[in-house]
Amino acid sequence: KGVDTLKITVIGAGYVGLVSGVCFAELGHEVTCIDNVEQKIKQLNQGEVPIYELGLQPLIADNMEKGTLAFSTELASSVKQADVVIIAVGTPSLPNGQANLSYIEQAAKEIGMALSGYTVIVTKSTVPVGTNEKVRAIIAQHTDEEFDVASVPEFLREGTAVMDTMNPDRIIIGTDSQRAEERLIELHHSLTSNIIVTDIRSAEMIKYASNAFLATKISFINEIANICEKVGADVTQVAHGMGYDKRIGSSFLKAGIGYGGSCFPKDTQALIQIAGQMDYDFKLLKSVVEVNREQRLNIIHKLESLLEGLKGRTIAVWGLAFKPETDDVREAPAFEIIAALRERGAFVKAYDPIAAPNFEAQYGSDGIAYCEDAREAAWQADALCILTEWGEFQQVSPSEIQEWLKSPYLIDGRNVYDQDQLAGTQLVYYSVGRPGMN
Ligand code: UGA
Repeated sequence: KGVDTLKITVIGAGYVGLVSGVCFAELGHEVTCIDNVEQKIKQLNQGEVPIYELGLQPLIADNMEKGTLAFSTELASSVKQADVVIIAVGTPSLPNGQANLSYIEQAAKEIGMALSGYTVIVTKSTVPVGTNEKVRAIIAQHTDEEFDVASVPEFLREGTAVMDTMNPDRIIIGTDSQRAEERLIELHHSLTSNIIVTDIRSAEMIKYASNAFLATKISFINEIANICEKVGADVTQVAHGMGYDKRIGSSFLKAGIGYGGSCFPKDTQALIQIAGQMDYDFKLLKSVVEVNREQRLNIIHKLESLLEGLKGRTIAVWGLAFKPETDDVREAPAFEIIAALRERGAFVKAYDPIAAPNFEAQYGSDGIAYCEDAREAAWQADALCILTEWGEFQQVSPSEIQEWLKSPYLIDGRNVYDQDQLAGTQLVYYSVGRPGMN
């Protein structure tokens, strides 16, 4: 087992596992990514990347060629040789909002059966406080070898995952072992960011608390936006002014139709559950979730009042992904908004640069036509709603939109356009928290 170059096994070649595995290879370690979905491993070995993520494909190709990155379904043989095993399997929500830990538990069992020599087992998946201790207990049931567990949560964002992993704001290492701490510092050796060593439970909590706080910022600014609309203030100016206060910070204050994705909705629900199990009522976070749910429907209320009912109307939708630069539609606001349009009898024409196939696979095609481009979706529609702020929408001039639409109604759920761009058009324009522009 090496000193500078560590042998790493990553279990779970999903978003977190794949990106961190590839980045550790890029940092000079020898990485094997394991997944039990054979098809996925086969694809990866042929150089096909199952997720759309900027910069990932060339890094994979490069490191496979150098021999520092491999993909396999064989967990045991890889774990046997590893200095560090990283668990990055999914923790989907159970119906009650709790995290489903069965994939983690299964991984821990298989690791335990395969361990050979001192190994550090790292959990990167987002897991409830106390899970690493469970992982330790499960592994210990299946081995007599020496090992330590550590929580090293992941803070990457989809769309900028490689950049986030290579340039993290901080690296959290939660461990109770000096030996594991040293090995994990070695693992991250060439990343020049703050390394913060904590106890295991605090590291697990840091991940939930960080995501809950970011979700809170979004719901907060969305409520400020709703009030701005009533009092005649502009939320983008308000957020800009607030952001200069270093204690507040300027990021995550973009008002819109609320947060989606595979993390915030799941992690906020899980933290509410974790608190509830300890008889703590996390009131603030419950409101954050509720505000987020309602915010999505504001767009429907605006449309209804503009069009005096939606029955028989054709509504164009631009953007289905939960945010730009990804084909991920998990928990995307588009689902609820399109379902609400359909319930009210509207027909939908939708366009997204890359996420439409994923959306269609989940939503189906009842009452919705998936269009080839932005123009086709907007053509002769009664109104256009923008649900994801893809860069290419910015490039379309509002006067073109006006030409394409049957009636001049543009509901911008992501504040894509500004006042100057709208000047000279007859568009009736609704955005979020910017009443002066209606
Ligand atoms: C989020 C966190 O940002 C990452 O730090 C974390 O590692 C990740 O979850 C995770 O737990 O794995 P991600 O879900 O990829 O990352 O996307 P974000 O860029 O954070 O956006 C989340 C949602 O918030 C999107 O729907 C976005 O449209 C919305 N958002 C974000 C706003 O509505 N306003 C903002 O100002 C920022």
